[in-house]
Amino acid sequence: MTLTSNERRVLDTLAERDEADAETLAEATGLGRGPVEGALSMLEEKGYVEVEETAETRYALTDEGSEYADDALPERRLHDYLVENDGATMDELRELDAFEIGIGHLRRKGWADVGETVEPNDAPRGDDEKALEALAEGEDADVPEMVVERGLVERVEERTVVAHLTDEGRAAAEKTTATEEKGELTHDDLASGDWKDATFADYNVEADAETTFGGREHILRQMANRVKEVMTSMGFQEMEGPHVDAEFYINDCLFMPQDHPARTHWDKFLLEEPTHIDELPDELVENVEKVHLEGAEGGDGYHSAWERDVARTLNLRGHTTSLSMRYLAQDVEPPARYFSVDKVYRNDTLDPTHLLEFFQIEGWVMARDLSVRDLMGTFVEFYSHFGIEDIEFKPHYNPYTEPSFEIFGEHPETGELIEIGNSGMFRREVLEPHGIDEDVEVMAWGLALERLLMLIYGFEDIRDVHGTLCDLELLREVPVLWE
Ligand code: PHE
Repeated sequence: MTLTSNERRVLDTLAERDEADAETLAEATGLGRGPVEGALSMLEEKGYVEVEETAETRYALTDEGSEYADDALPERRLHDYLVENDGATMDELRELDAFEIGIGHLRRKGWADVGETVEPNDAPRGDDEKALEALAEGEDADVPEMVVERGLVERVEERTVVAHLTDEGRAAAEKTTATEEKGELTHDDLASGDWKDATFADYNVEADAETTFGGREHILRQMANRVKEVMTSMGFQEMEGPHVDAEFYINDCLFMPQDHPARTHWDKFLLEEPTHIDELPDELVENVEKVHLEGAEGGDGYHSAWERDVARTLNLRGHTTSLSMRYLAQDVEPPARYFSVDKVYRNDTLDPTHLLEFFQIEGWVMARDLSVRDLMGTFVEFYSHFGIEDIEFKPHYNPYTEPSFEIFGEHPETGELIEIGNSGMFRREVLEPHGIDEDVEVMAWGLALERLLMLIYGFEDIRDVHGTLCDLELLREVPVLWE
């Protein structure tokens, strides 16, 4: 049996000691740990060695942990001070270095009563202190989880690979005549022509290899791009526009009365500087104002106050329907199809399904003879591209669409129906100011990109895929599901 030069080196080194771990072999052969493990796995396959792999968790003090192992925990230092001085005021304690970190732990552990003055209680030596001391002495310790969470101790996973020589291995090591196999083809081999007579090692395509993580598109971005591809394949063009926009495009064009509750408080992020947009298209502004005051074909308007200054106020957009309004204002002729996949901002309370910012998949279709069937059919087609075949519709209300529908999909893990979008046919009050003919309909929607992700991957918390809590491991390992 032939051996590569690495295998030969590892085998010979192992023959001197019968058993050794990969680390020792790496040092003795001068090869890296990777090549040694590679050679071991080839030798194992040839029956020359037996390899045993074990993983062990070890605890190690962090810098902060070793500081406390030397000097005592900050709460212990505060406690010592309290004992020495028979209590102290908060202001006195505040002077001490240990105060900032220590005070919270002092209270949590019940080591002092905090009233007008701070009075020490009994403070028995804790498991955390014992663990720090033991680790500092190089001994094994029972490490309470709290100490790890506090960042005083780190868990270190150690993988050990131990190899034993088999009888066949010993025999092979003694046979010095084994032909040398080449592990790789070098420039010298080519230049000298040596390659012609050389024996090359077979590739072992089943050998374990180290996983390397290169840069990778964020899962949300992947999905946004995928949505863009699908929308484009369905004949849509992409819209682009400002994240900060005038209320005019965000609300007024959508026939949202200026005294609508959503416009006065919960929904908004206002801008400090600048507060207002300079220019709005005069004619459109007049038409929109007229519709608010007097209504459009078949409607009566709101008859409530409408002020241009309110319309000029700048906000972070709460939906990308502001983009649809900007595009509708550009004399579009039917048939037309537009979409965007972009960020929106809402002053919501954070919870597993709500964030202050998220991505909306906006879209609209302008054509003659459009009906609700077309709207539903568009969603059925859109979601089917992602393997989602069971969407449901629920009648809904929006000031700007009639009829309106919420769209629901079933969560793959919990089985719950979750809302994934909102849609409808724009009212005449929205279309008329743009001079859109009476026989032309516009159907439109806003879908949540993150909810689509939840349906596809089964995430239960939007914060799993968004923002700083997003797990790096997840970003690295999440499978690409649609390819
Ligand atoms: N703007 C709506 C939302 O954010 C979505 C929508 C867009 C509904 C267009 C109907 C028409 O929920």
